[in-house]
Amino acid sequence: MKSLVFVTALLVIACAALPNPPSADSFYAPAEADAPPSIDAKFKAAGKKYFGIATDQSKLMSGKNAAIISADFGQVTPENSMKWDSTEAQQGKFQFSTPNYLVNWALNNSKLVRGHTTVWHSQLPGWVSGINDKARLTTVIQNHVINVVGQWKGKIYAWDVLNEIFNEDGSLRPSVFSKVLGEDFVSIAFTAARAADPQAKLYINDYNLDTASNKKTQAMIAKVKQWRAAGVPIDGIGSQAHLKPGQAAGVRGAMQALCAAAPECAITELDIQDAPAADYASVAKTCLDIKNCVGVTVWGLRDADSWRKQTRPLLFDDSFNPKAAYTALLQLRA
Ligand SMILES: *[C@@H]1O[C@H](CO)[C@@H](O)[C@H](O)[C@H]1NC(C)=O
Repeated sequence: MKSLVFVTALLVIACAALPNPPSADSFYAPAEADAPPSIDAKFKAAGKKYFGIATDQSKLMSGKNAAIISADFGQVTPENSMKWDSTEAQQGKFQFSTPNYLVNWALNNSKLVRGHTTVWHSQLPGWVSGINDKARLTTVIQNHVINVVGQWKGKIYAWDVLNEIFNEDGSLRPSVFSKVLGEDFVSIAFTAARAADPQAKLYINDYNLDTASNKKTQAMIAKVKQWRAAGVPIDGIGSQAHLKPGQAAGVRGAMQALCAAAPECAITELDIQDAPAADYASVAKTCLDIKNCVGVTVWGLRDADSWRKQTRPLLFDDSFNPKAAYTALLQLRA
């Protein structure tokens, strides 16, 4: 700062003495002008909302996670702490301290938050999966969604209201929700979420939506259109994108189709086995190229912390060093 003031002072003196002062650019171009901005800055410059990352309190408090996320990412998604078995393990006894930490950290560091997830068949407490009465399950879903979404009203950019509700053949996955309520749990959950936080973008999220011709992708598209036409407040479709090498090739066509079915869309849980740089770049470019794709979230920072750690699928190695895929994203042209 001091040297900038000094240079500025010199410049003012120099300019005053020169008939044709050189353009300010030639003086002010910082020494690090060639260093690319963060991937998040690149996404924002291209009109996206964020380039994000899954994390949680324990990670934000350890190693270089917080420093790297603060510098390089624009959005955080809690990997586990907002799931039903964490927030309401016992009926009506809500636990928010761990996700509160993440949300507070995000607000302190000017990061967006994606809430994940309110209604999912997995990481679901037994007291919920044992319910077989329609009225009771309806009230339980409403109460859960209203309390969890309401906890951070106005602070969450988007919520994965529903997660993984489809089978591979496009039918509804058997779960306590579909078995007791049929399709009705979809509107019950989204309506409750909209009431609890009218500003949050409400998403339906799933995996294996990586090929346009896939039955599951087609079902997601058809059902979202049908539900939205019926007034269900769905704002976005999330494609998890847990990929193997080569699968990135199908993502562009799949996202073009998915993104046409809702006001917005996102890649929500990206990780790619062996982290091929070209595959990461291809998925990121797909979101950059699709107007209503709001951003990409990578599902964890370091390979050692990945749910697929044997496949080393993330952007940073176990020592927090950026890998080739990270560099490829940094160098991507928007
Ligand atoms: C957020 O900032 C407040 C005020 O400075 C501070 O008390 C709190 O510990 C911070 N929380 C996190 C998680 O960074």
